[in-house]
Amino acid sequence: MDLVLKGGLVVTAERVEEADVAVKDGKIAAVGPDLPPEGAEVRDVTGRYLFPGVIDAHVHYWMAIGDLVTADDWFTGTRLAACGGVTTVIDYAEPASPAEPLTASLERRLKEAGEQACVDYGLHQVVLPGHEDDERELAAVVARGVPSFKVFTTYNQRLSLDAIGRLLEKARRLGALVTVHCEDHGIITARKEELIAAGKTDPAYHALSRPETAEVKAIRDVIALAGKAGASVYIVHVSTGGGAAAIAAARGEGRPVYGETCPHYLLLTAEKYAGPEGRLYLMCPPLRTAGDNEELWRHLAAGSLQVVATDHCSYTPRQKNAGTAFYNTPSGVPGTETLLPLLYSFGVRSGRLTLPQMVKVLATNPARLFGLYPRKGDLAPGSDADIVVFNPRKEVVLTAAHLHSAAGYTIFEGFPLQGYPEATYLRGRLIYEGGRFLGRAGDGCFIPGRR
Ligand code: URP
Ligand code: ZN
Ligand code: ZN
Ligand code: ZN
Repeated sequence: MDLVLKGGLVVTAERVEEADVAVKDGKIAAVGPDLPPEGAEVRDVTGRYLFPGVIDAHVHYWMAIGDLVTADDWFTGTRLAACGGVTTVIDYAEPASPAEPLTASLERRLKEAGEQACVDYGLHQVVLPGHEDDERELAAVVARGVPSFKVFTTYNQRLSLDAIGRLLEKARRLGALVTVHCEDHGIITARKEELIAAGKTDPAYHALSRPETAEVKAIRDVIALAGKAGASVYIVHVSTGGGAAAIAAARGEGRPVYGETCPHYLLLTAEKYAGPEGRLYLMCPPLRTAGDNEELWRHLAAGSLQVVATDHCSYTPRQKNAGTAFYNTPSGVPGTETLLPLLYSFGVRSGRLTLPQMVKVLATNPARLFGLYPRKGDLAPGSDADIVVFNPRKEVVLTAAHLHSAAGYTIFEGFPLQGYPEATYLRGRLIYEGGRFLGRAGDGCFIPGRR
Protein backbone atom coordinates (compact mmCIF):
# COMPACT_ATOMS: atom_id res chain seq x y z
CA MET A 1 0.00 0.00 0.00
CA ASP A 2 1.03 3.58 -0.62
CA LEU A 3 -1.46 5.35 1.64
CA VAL A 4 -4.01 4.37 4.27
CA LEU A 5 -6.69 6.82 5.44
CA LYS A 6 -7.60 5.59 8.93
CA GLY A 7 -10.69 6.03 11.05
CA GLY A 8 -12.94 8.06 8.75
CA LEU A 9 -16.57 7.71 7.71
CA VAL A 10 -16.69 6.53 4.11
CA VAL A 11 -19.68 7.89 2.17
CA THR A 12 -20.83 6.40 -1.13
CA ALA A 13 -24.10 6.55 -3.05
CA GLU A 14 -25.12 3.42 -1.15
CA ARG A 15 -24.02 3.91 2.46
CA VAL A 16 -22.09 5.61 5.22
CA GLU A 17 -19.64 3.30 6.98
CA GLU A 18 -16.77 3.54 9.40
CA ALA A 19 -13.88 2.18 7.35
CA ASP A 20 -10.27 2.69 6.38
CA VAL A 21 -9.34 3.31 2.76
CA ALA A 22 -6.12 1.91 1.30
CA VAL A 23 -4.56 3.28 -1.87
CA LYS A 24 -2.04 1.66 -4.17
CA ASP A 25 -0.74 2.93 -7.52
CA GLY A 26 -3.35 5.66 -7.68
CA LYS A 27 -6.27 3.27 -7.24
CA ILE A 28 -8.35 2.34 -4.24
CA ALA A 29 -7.04 -1.05 -3.15
CA ALA A 30 -9.32 -1.77 -0.20
CA VAL A 31 -12.10 -0.28 1.90
CA GLY A 32 -12.75 -1.91 5.26
CA PRO A 33 -12.22 -1.94 8.99
CA ASP A 34 -8.72 -1.90 10.50
CA LEU A 35 -6.69 -2.17 7.29
CA PRO A 36 -3.03 -2.90 8.10
CA PRO A 37 -0.70 0.03 7.31
CA GLU A 38 2.07 -2.31 5.98
CA GLY A 39 4.63 0.44 5.60
CA ALA A 40 2.25 2.83 3.86
CA GLU A 41 1.86 6.50 4.75
CA VAL A 42 -0.98 6.72 7.26
CA ARG A 43 -3.32 9.67 7.60
CA ASP A 44 -5.59 9.84 10.62
CA VAL A 45 -9.01 10.97 9.40
CA THR A 46 -10.95 10.34 12.60
CA GLY A 47 -14.14 12.41 12.65
CA ARG A 48 -13.85 13.20 8.93
CA TYR A 49 -16.02 12.10 6.03
CA LEU A 50 -14.36 10.53 3.00
CA PHE A 51 -16.27 11.32 -0.20
CA PRO A 52 -15.49 10.22 -3.77
CA GLY A 53 -13.90 13.16 -5.60
CA VAL A 54 -16.66 15.46 -6.83
CA ILE A 55 -17.39 15.63 -10.58
CA ASP A 56 -18.43 19.07 -11.85
CA ALA A 57 -20.13 17.94 -15.06
CA HIS A 58 -20.77 21.46 -16.41
CA VAL A 59 -17.92 24.00 -16.57
CA HIS A 60 -16.64 26.55 -19.06
CA TYR A 61 -12.93 27.24 -18.66
CA TRP A 62 -11.14 29.54 -21.10
CA MET A 63 -14.29 30.09 -23.10
CA ALA A 64 -14.11 32.81 -25.71
CA ILE A 65 -17.07 34.77 -27.10
CA GLY A 66 -15.58 37.26 -29.55
CA ASP A 67 -12.95 39.25 -27.61
CA LEU A 68 -14.36 38.24 -24.27
CA VAL A 69 -12.66 35.31 -22.53
CA THR A 70 -13.73 33.83 -19.19
CA ALA A 71 -11.59 34.79 -16.20
CA ASP A 72 -10.69 31.18 -15.33
CA ASP A 73 -8.63 29.17 -17.78
CA TRP A 74 -7.90 25.44 -17.55
CA PHE A 75 -5.20 26.08 -14.94
CA THR A 76 -7.03 28.40 -12.54
CA GLY A 77 -10.33 26.60 -13.15
CA THR A 78 -8.97 23.19 -12.23
CA ARG A 79 -6.85 24.63 -9.38
CA LEU A 80 -9.95 26.08 -7.74
CA ALA A 81 -11.69 22.75 -8.42
CA ALA A 82 -9.02 20.89 -6.43
CA CYS A 83 -9.48 23.38 -3.58
CA GLY A 84 -13.19 22.54 -3.49
CA GLY A 85 -12.85 18.74 -3.53
CA VAL A 86 -13.61 18.48 -7.26
CA THR A 87 -11.30 15.96 -8.95
CA THR A 88 -13.00 15.69 -12.35
CA VAL A 89 -14.53 18.43 -14.47
CA ILE A 90 -16.42 18.08 -17.72
CA ASP A 91 -16.05 21.06 -20.05
CA TYR A 92 -17.01 21.54 -23.70
CA ALA A 93 -15.39 21.26 -27.10
CA GLU A 94 -17.06 23.78 -29.39
CA PRO A 95 -16.23 24.39 -33.04
CA ALA A 96 -15.02 27.95 -33.67
CA SER A 97 -17.54 28.04 -36.53
CA PRO A 98 -19.84 25.56 -38.29
CA ALA A 99 -16.98 25.06 -40.76
CA GLU A 100 -14.65 23.57 -38.15
CA PRO A 101 -15.06 19.77 -37.94
CA LEU A 102 -16.20 18.45 -34.57
CA THR A 103 -13.11 16.29 -34.23
CA ALA A 104 -10.81 19.26 -34.89
CA SER A 105 -12.51 21.28 -32.15
CA LEU A 106 -12.20 18.30 -29.84
CA GLU A 107 -8.46 17.80 -30.43
CA ARG A 108 -7.86 21.53 -29.96
CA ARG A 109 -9.65 21.49 -26.62
CA LEU A 110 -7.90 18.29 -25.48
CA LYS A 111 -4.53 19.91 -26.18
CA GLU A 112 -5.37 23.02 -24.13
CA ALA A 113 -6.56 20.93 -21.22
CA GLY A 114 -3.64 18.50 -21.39
CA GLU A 115 -1.13 21.29 -20.90
CA GLN A 116 -2.90 23.07 -18.07
CA ALA A 117 -5.38 20.91 -16.17
CA CYS A 118 -4.61 20.09 -12.52
CA VAL A 119 -7.52 17.66 -12.09
CA ASP A 120 -8.95 15.02 -14.41
CA TYR A 121 -11.36 16.04 -17.12
CA GLY A 122 -13.81 14.93 -19.74
CA LEU A 123 -15.54 16.85 -22.50
CA HIS A 124 -18.99 17.26 -23.99
CA GLN A 125 -19.09 17.95 -27.73
CA VAL A 126 -21.05 21.05 -28.75
CA VAL A 127 -22.95 20.37 -31.98
CA LEU A 128 -23.55 23.45 -34.14
CA PRO A 129 -26.21 23.76 -36.86
CA GLY A 130 -25.31 21.42 -39.74
CA HIS A 131 -23.21 19.05 -37.62
CA GLU A 132 -26.25 17.10 -36.48
CA ASP A 133 -26.38 15.25 -39.80
CA ASP A 134 -22.71 14.25 -39.91
CA GLU A 135 -22.92 10.79 -38.43
CA ARG A 136 -19.28 9.94 -39.20
CA GLU A 137 -18.00 12.93 -37.25
CA LEU A 138 -20.42 12.25 -34.41
CA ALA A 139 -19.26 8.62 -34.30
CA ALA A 140 -15.60 9.72 -34.28
CA VAL A 141 -16.26 11.98 -31.30
CA VAL A 142 -17.87 9.12 -29.37
CA ALA A 143 -15.01 6.77 -30.29
CA ARG A 144 -12.54 9.34 -28.91
CA GLY A 145 -14.19 9.09 -25.48
CA VAL A 146 -16.74 11.89 -25.67
CA PRO A 147 -20.15 10.18 -25.39
CA SER A 148 -22.22 13.33 -24.85
CA PHE A 149 -23.34 16.09 -27.18
CA LYS A 150 -24.46 19.58 -26.20
CA VAL A 151 -27.00 21.66 -28.06
CA PHE A 152 -28.82 24.92 -27.42
CA THR A 153 -32.40 25.94 -28.16
CA THR A 154 -31.34 29.60 -28.03
CA TYR A 155 -28.22 31.76 -28.57
CA ASN A 156 -26.47 31.97 -31.95
CA GLN A 157 -25.49 28.31 -31.67
CA ARG A 158 -29.13 27.18 -31.49
CA LEU A 159 -30.41 24.20 -33.40
CA SER A 160 -33.98 23.99 -34.67
CA LEU A 161 -36.22 21.45 -32.96
CA ASP A 162 -36.10 19.40 -36.19
CA ALA A 163 -32.32 19.33 -36.04
CA ILE A 164 -32.33 18.37 -32.35
CA GLY A 165 -34.72 15.53 -33.24
CA ARG A 166 -32.32 14.24 -35.92
CA LEU A 167 -29.38 14.47 -33.53
CA LEU A 168 -31.32 12.53 -30.87
CA GLU A 169 -31.83 9.68 -33.37
CA LYS A 170 -28.14 9.51 -34.21
CA ALA A 171 -27.20 9.73 -30.55
CA ARG A 172 -29.45 6.76 -29.79
CA ARG A 173 -27.66 4.70 -32.46
CA LEU A 174 -24.24 5.81 -31.15
CA GLY A 175 -25.09 5.27 -27.49
CA ALA A 176 -24.44 8.95 -26.78
CA LEU A 177 -26.37 11.28 -24.45
CA VAL A 178 -27.68 14.57 -25.85
CA THR A 179 -27.53 17.40 -23.30
CA VAL A 180 -29.64 20.48 -23.95
CA HIS A 181 -29.71 24.12 -22.83
CA CYS A 182 -33.47 24.64 -22.76
CA GLU A 183 -34.93 28.13 -23.17
CA ASP A 184 -37.47 28.77 -25.92
CA HIS A 185 -35.88 31.21 -28.35
CA GLY A 186 -39.19 32.65 -29.57
CA ILE A 187 -40.44 33.47 -26.08
CA ILE A 188 -37.22 35.14 -24.92
CA THR A 189 -36.77 37.08 -28.17
CA ALA A 190 -40.31 38.48 -27.92
CA ARG A 191 -39.87 39.34 -24.23
CA LYS A 192 -36.53 41.03 -24.90
CA GLU A 193 -38.03 43.19 -27.64
CA GLU A 194 -40.94 44.23 -25.40
CA LEU A 195 -38.57 45.24 -22.61
CA ILE A 196 -36.31 47.18 -24.97
CA ALA A 197 -39.33 48.99 -26.47
CA ALA A 198 -40.36 49.96 -22.92
CA GLY A 199 -36.86 51.24 -22.15
CA LYS A 200 -36.42 48.50 -19.54
CA THR A 201 -32.89 47.38 -20.36
CA ASP A 202 -31.20 47.56 -16.96
CA PRO A 203 -29.79 44.21 -15.69
CA ALA A 204 -32.56 44.35 -13.09
CA TYR A 205 -34.85 43.13 -15.93
CA HIS A 206 -32.74 40.07 -16.72
CA ALA A 207 -35.08 37.55 -15.06
CA LEU A 208 -38.16 39.09 -16.69
CA SER A 209 -36.45 38.81 -20.07
CA ARG A 210 -36.14 35.01 -19.76
CA PRO A 211 -39.33 33.82 -18.05
CA GLU A 212 -40.07 30.43 -16.52
CA THR A 213 -42.44 29.66 -19.42
CA ALA A 214 -39.50 29.77 -21.84
CA GLU A 215 -37.64 27.09 -19.91
CA VAL A 216 -40.69 24.90 -19.34
CA LYS A 217 -41.78 25.03 -23.00
CA ALA A 218 -38.30 24.17 -24.29
CA ILE A 219 -37.94 21.30 -21.82
CA ARG A 220 -41.34 19.88 -22.83
CA ASP A 221 -40.49 20.20 -26.53
CA VAL A 222 -37.14 18.46 -26.11
CA ILE A 223 -38.62 15.67 -23.98
CA ALA A 224 -41.22 15.09 -26.71
CA LEU A 225 -38.49 14.91 -29.37
CA ALA A 226 -36.51 12.42 -27.29
CA GLY A 227 -39.63 10.30 -26.94
CA LYS A 228 -40.17 10.27 -30.71
CA ALA A 229 -36.52 9.33 -31.29
CA GLY A 230 -36.51 6.70 -28.54
CA ALA A 231 -33.46 8.47 -27.14
CA SER A 232 -32.35 9.52 -23.70
CA VAL A 233 -31.84 13.21 -23.01
CA TYR A 234 -30.23 15.35 -20.27
CA ILE A 235 -31.44 18.86 -19.51
CA VAL A 236 -28.64 21.12 -18.23
CA HIS A 237 -29.05 23.81 -15.54
CA VAL A 238 -32.75 23.40 -14.74
CA SER A 239 -33.74 26.60 -12.93
CA THR A 240 -37.50 26.25 -12.40
CA GLY A 241 -39.83 24.01 -10.44
CA GLY A 242 -41.94 23.74 -13.62
CA GLY A 243 -38.97 22.47 -15.64
CA ALA A 244 -38.11 19.91 -12.97
CA ALA A 245 -41.76 18.81 -12.84
CA ALA A 246 -41.75 18.17 -16.62
CA ILE A 247 -38.67 15.95 -16.21
CA ALA A 248 -40.26 14.17 -13.23
CA ALA A 249 -43.43 13.50 -15.25
CA ALA A 250 -41.46 11.91 -18.13
CA ARG A 251 -39.47 9.80 -15.66
CA GLY A 252 -42.73 8.75 -14.05
CA GLU A 253 -43.59 7.14 -17.41
CA GLY A 254 -40.29 5.28 -17.31
CA ARG A 255 -38.56 7.54 -19.85
CA PRO A 256 -34.75 8.02 -19.77
CA VAL A 257 -34.89 11.78 -19.16
CA TYR A 258 -32.30 13.34 -16.84
CA GLY A 259 -31.91 16.76 -15.27
CA GLU A 260 -29.16 18.84 -13.75
CA THR A 261 -29.46 21.89 -11.54
CA CYS A 262 -26.88 24.26 -10.03
CA PRO A 263 -26.23 25.62 -6.52
CA HIS A 264 -27.35 29.13 -7.55
CA TYR A 265 -30.80 27.89 -8.61
CA LEU A 266 -31.10 26.10 -5.25
CA LEU A 267 -29.94 28.98 -3.07
CA LEU A 268 -30.46 32.41 -4.69
CA THR A 269 -33.41 34.35 -6.11
CA ALA A 270 -33.98 36.96 -8.82
CA GLU A 271 -34.06 39.67 -6.15
CA LYS A 272 -30.29 39.74 -6.57
CA TYR A 273 -30.72 41.50 -9.94
CA ALA A 274 -32.30 44.57 -8.33
CA GLY A 275 -29.22 45.45 -6.30
CA PRO A 276 -26.26 47.58 -7.42
CA GLU A 277 -24.27 44.37 -7.92
CA GLY A 278 -26.99 42.81 -10.05
CA ARG A 279 -24.69 42.20 -13.01
CA LEU A 280 -22.45 39.95 -10.94
CA TYR A 281 -25.34 37.48 -10.58
CA LEU A 282 -26.31 37.48 -14.24
CA MET A 283 -26.42 34.03 -15.81
CA CYS A 284 -28.74 32.17 -18.22
CA PRO A 285 -31.24 30.90 -17.34
CA PRO A 286 -31.74 33.52 -14.63
CA LEU A 287 -32.28 33.15 -10.90
CA ARG A 288 -35.93 32.55 -9.99
CA THR A 289 -38.00 32.50 -6.78
CA ALA A 290 -37.70 30.98 -3.31
CA GLY A 291 -40.49 28.61 -4.37
CA ASP A 292 -38.36 27.38 -7.27
CA ASN A 293 -35.41 26.88 -4.88
CA GLU A 294 -37.49 24.58 -2.70
CA GLU A 295 -39.06 22.68 -5.63
CA LEU A 296 -35.59 21.99 -7.04
CA TRP A 297 -34.35 20.65 -3.68
CA ARG A 298 -37.44 18.45 -3.49
CA HIS A 299 -36.90 17.05 -7.00
CA LEU A 300 -33.24 16.37 -6.19
CA ALA A 301 -34.12 14.43 -3.05
CA ALA A 302 -36.83 12.53 -4.95
CA GLY A 303 -34.35 11.55 -7.67
CA SER A 304 -36.19 13.42 -10.46
CA LEU A 305 -33.08 15.57 -10.89
CA GLN A 306 -29.89 13.51 -10.88
CA VAL A 307 -26.98 15.94 -10.98
CA VAL A 308 -25.84 19.16 -9.36
CA ALA A 309 -23.13 20.87 -11.40
CA THR A 310 -22.08 24.51 -11.42
CA ASP A 311 -22.04 25.90 -14.99
CA HIS A 312 -18.83 27.63 -13.80
CA CYS A 313 -18.40 30.45 -16.33
CA SER A 314 -16.50 33.19 -14.56
CA TYR A 315 -15.93 36.82 -15.43
CA THR A 316 -14.31 39.51 -13.31
CA PRO A 317 -16.50 42.33 -11.91
CA ARG A 318 -14.74 44.55 -14.42
CA GLN A 319 -15.87 42.32 -17.30
CA LYS A 320 -19.41 42.04 -15.89
CA ASN A 321 -19.74 45.75 -15.20
CA ALA A 322 -18.81 46.61 -18.77
CA GLY A 323 -22.37 45.51 -19.57
CA THR A 324 -24.85 48.36 -20.02
CA ALA A 325 -28.03 46.29 -20.44
CA PHE A 326 -29.31 42.82 -19.53
CA TYR A 327 -28.64 41.60 -23.06
CA ASN A 328 -25.01 42.72 -23.33
CA THR A 329 -23.71 41.84 -19.87
CA PRO A 330 -21.41 38.78 -19.93
CA SER A 331 -23.51 35.85 -18.75
CA GLY A 332 -22.21 33.31 -16.27
CA VAL A 333 -20.93 32.97 -12.69
CA PRO A 334 -18.12 31.13 -10.88
CA GLY A 335 -19.11 28.09 -8.83
CA THR A 336 -16.95 24.94 -8.90
CA GLU A 337 -15.03 25.64 -5.69
CA THR A 338 -18.14 26.15 -3.55
CA LEU A 339 -20.20 23.25 -4.99
CA LEU A 340 -19.46 20.62 -2.34
CA PRO A 341 -19.43 22.85 0.76
CA LEU A 342 -22.73 24.48 -0.24
CA LEU A 343 -24.42 21.14 -0.94
CA TYR A 344 -23.18 19.81 2.39
CA SER A 345 -24.26 22.81 4.50
CA PHE A 346 -27.55 23.63 2.75
CA GLY A 347 -28.42 20.15 1.50
CA VAL A 348 -27.21 17.66 4.10
CA ARG A 349 -27.08 19.79 7.26
CA SER A 350 -30.41 21.41 6.45
CA GLY A 351 -31.97 17.97 6.17
CA ARG A 352 -32.87 18.25 2.47
CA LEU A 353 -30.48 15.50 1.31
CA THR A 354 -28.88 12.50 2.99
CA LEU A 355 -25.12 12.03 2.73
CA PRO A 356 -25.50 9.22 0.13
CA GLN A 357 -27.93 11.38 -1.87
CA MET A 358 -25.35 14.18 -1.91
CA VAL A 359 -22.64 11.81 -3.13
CA LYS A 360 -25.01 10.54 -5.82
CA VAL A 361 -25.79 13.96 -7.28
CA LEU A 362 -22.19 15.24 -7.02
CA ALA A 363 -20.24 12.18 -8.10
CA THR A 364 -21.89 8.82 -8.76
CA ASN A 365 -24.71 9.96 -11.05
CA PRO A 366 -22.58 12.22 -13.29
CA ALA A 367 -19.97 9.43 -13.51
CA ARG A 368 -22.64 6.96 -14.63
CA LEU A 369 -24.37 9.30 -17.06
CA PHE A 370 -21.17 10.39 -18.79
CA GLY A 371 -19.52 6.97 -18.87
CA LEU A 372 -16.82 7.54 -16.23
CA TYR A 373 -18.14 4.98 -13.74
CA PRO A 374 -16.71 3.00 -11.91
CA ARG A 375 -13.33 4.61 -12.52
CA LYS A 376 -14.82 7.84 -11.13
CA GLY A 377 -17.74 8.51 -8.79
CA ASP A 378 -17.19 5.79 -6.18
CA LEU A 379 -14.94 4.76 -3.32
CA ALA A 380 -14.55 1.09 -4.16
CA PRO A 381 -11.61 -1.21 -4.90
CA GLY A 382 -10.41 -0.53 -8.46
CA SER A 383 -11.73 3.04 -8.65
CA ASP A 384 -9.31 5.95 -9.02
CA ALA A 385 -8.19 7.14 -5.59
CA ASP A 386 -9.93 10.51 -5.94
CA ILE A 387 -10.85 11.23 -2.33
CA VAL A 388 -12.12 14.25 -0.44
CA VAL A 389 -11.31 14.41 3.27
CA PHE A 390 -14.17 16.55 4.59
CA ASN A 391 -14.30 18.11 8.06
CA PRO A 392 -17.99 18.43 9.06
CA ARG A 393 -17.16 20.66 12.03
CA LYS A 394 -15.14 23.31 10.23
CA GLU A 395 -17.01 26.62 10.28
CA VAL A 396 -16.37 28.97 7.39
CA VAL A 397 -18.00 32.18 6.24
CA LEU A 398 -17.63 32.13 2.47
CA THR A 399 -15.63 35.02 1.12
CA ALA A 400 -13.87 35.58 -2.17
CA ALA A 401 -10.61 36.26 -0.31
CA HIS A 402 -10.37 32.55 0.59
CA LEU A 403 -11.39 31.27 -2.83
CA HIS A 404 -9.19 30.72 -5.86
CA SER A 405 -11.18 31.93 -8.88
CA ALA A 406 -9.66 34.58 -11.12
CA ALA A 407 -13.17 36.11 -11.08
CA GLY A 408 -12.24 37.54 -7.68
CA TYR A 409 -15.79 37.36 -6.30
CA THR A 410 -18.38 34.80 -5.24
CA ILE A 411 -22.16 35.06 -5.56
CA PHE A 412 -22.28 33.30 -2.17
CA GLU A 413 -20.28 35.97 -0.29
CA GLY A 414 -21.09 35.84 3.43
CA PHE A 415 -22.84 32.44 3.30
CA PRO A 416 -22.19 30.69 6.63
CA LEU A 417 -21.00 27.11 6.18
CA GLN A 418 -20.53 24.29 8.59
CA GLY A 419 -18.27 21.71 6.97
CA TYR A 420 -15.47 22.22 4.47
CA PRO A 421 -13.01 20.10 2.45
CA GLU A 422 -9.77 19.59 4.35
CA ALA A 423 -7.80 17.65 1.75
CA THR A 424 -8.21 16.43 -1.82
CA TYR A 425 -6.46 13.43 -3.36
CA LEU A 426 -6.28 12.93 -7.12
CA ARG A 427 -5.38 9.35 -8.06
CA GLY A 428 -3.74 9.00 -4.63
CA ARG A 429 -1.76 12.26 -4.77
CA LEU A 430 -2.46 15.08 -2.32
CA ILE A 431 -3.40 18.11 -4.44
CA TYR A 432 -5.06 20.29 -1.78
CA GLU A 433 -4.75 20.58 1.96
CA GLY A 434 -5.96 23.12 4.50
CA GLY A 435 -6.37 26.05 2.12
CA ARG A 436 -3.24 25.29 0.06
CA PHE A 437 -3.17 24.04 -3.50
CA LEU A 438 -0.49 21.36 -3.94
CA GLY A 439 -1.16 20.16 -7.50
CA ARG A 440 0.50 20.99 -10.80
CA ALA A 441 -0.61 22.11 -14.25
CA GLY A 442 -0.63 19.16 -16.62
CA ASP A 443 -1.22 16.53 -13.92
CA GLY A 444 -4.86 16.16 -14.89
CA CYS A 445 -5.69 13.35 -17.32
CA PHE A 446 -8.38 13.08 -19.97
CA ILE A 447 -10.79 10.38 -18.84
CA PRO A 448 -12.50 8.92 -21.90
CA GLY A 449 -16.19 8.33 -21.33
CA ARG A 450 -17.71 4.99 -22.40
CA ARG A 451 -21.47 4.68 -22.11
O1 URP B 1 -24.93 32.17 -18.42
C1 URP B 1 -24.40 31.09 -18.61
N1 URP B 1 -24.94 30.01 -18.10
N2 URP B 1 -23.27 31.00 -19.33
C2 URP B 1 -22.65 29.81 -19.71
C3 URP B 1 -23.24 29.22 -20.96
C4 URP B 1 -24.46 28.40 -20.69
O2 URP B 1 -25.52 28.73 -21.19
O3 URP B 1 -24.40 27.40 -19.97
ZN1 ZN C 1 -26.48 26.88 -20.91
ZN1 ZN D 1 -23.04 26.24 -19.39
ZN1 ZN E 1 -2.11 12.65 -17.89
